[in-house]
Amino acid sequence: MAQKLALVTGAARGIGLATTKLFLQNLWQVAMIDRDAEALSQAASSLDGTMPIVADVSDPDQVDDMVKAVMSKFGRIDAVVNNAGIAEFGPIEQHDFAVWRRVMETNLDGVFLVSQASIPALRESRGAIVNIASISGLRASTLRVAYGTSKAGVIHLTKQQAAELGEYGIRANCVCPGPVRTKLAMAVHTPEIIAAYHDAIPLNRYGSEEEIAQVIFFLCSDKASYVTGQVIASDGGFECTGVGLPALRKSD
Ligand SMILES: NC(=O)c1ccc[n+]([C@@H]2O[C@H](COP(=O)([O-])OP(=O)(O)OC[C@H]3O[C@@H](n4cnc5c(N)ncnc54)[C@H](O)[C@@H]3O)[C@@H](O)[C@H]2O)c1
Repeated sequence: MAQKLALVTGAARGIGLATTKLFLQNLWQVAMIDRDAEALSQAASSLDGTMPIVADVSDPDQVDDMVKAVMSKFGRIDAVVNNAGIAEFGPIEQHDFAVWRRVMETNLDGVFLVSQASIPALRESRGAIVNIASISGLRASTLRVAYGTSKAGVIHLTKQQAAELGEYGIRANCVCPGPVRTKLAMAVHTPEIIAAYHDAIPLNRYGSEEEIAQVIFFLCSDKASYVTGQVIASDGGFECTGVGLPALRKSD
């Protein structure tokens, strides 16, 4: 059987890199997409079965060229993982329009553009889209007016894709990670935010990149062949809980 190809955006580090490695372990090939040329070439240099492509997912021309390059090398795309994302936190009244646009361009426009450019290839393969949103798209929180709103948009965009692309056999699902200690999270998580997350998460810890990658890979695999339009939080239980969790925890 021909080797499958996953296109992973934001693949130079963090969740995207862990996802790339998991695909490779499962004998897929991976087109690694990132706009950070140096980090991408370093990450890809030791990974056989990958094609690194420098591209900004928020730029329609770069996205079209990138998908063409993937198709001319591999001739197929079986899964698209829209993982590239940025986080900028700040109070709502101080979020200037430039910040709002920057966050939307990568987190929401990028998912739309990369998915749309991949539709002809995904129709051929009857492939899968997995979009990476966040628990910040499921529950509102302070400092995240642009980030949280962009991720809520990704959640709805996923359902829209599932509704419209199902007739081509294309599945679309969304993973909402809880906090993971990547460069993105550490840039915006203060010690207070870290402590608050621990308090609000039943499993009482951050997740790992590999734990998120496992959920992404499952949704791309044939094991999820009848799953589409779903939003799955990989969040240690954050989303299911309400107030009072620390006080209600049993202490020994
Ligand atoms: N780390 C967390 O706690 C957490 C929690 C919830 C959701 N997420 C989401 O998971 C995804 C991955 O996050 P991470 O923590 O691994 O981030 P990260 O910052 O470690 O890695 C993100 C990668 O995306 C690339 N990138 C950013 N904008 C891009 C663009 N416009 N075009 C191409 N590449 C671009 C960056 O260069 C970087 O290599 C993001 O969508 C993020 O919002 C992360």
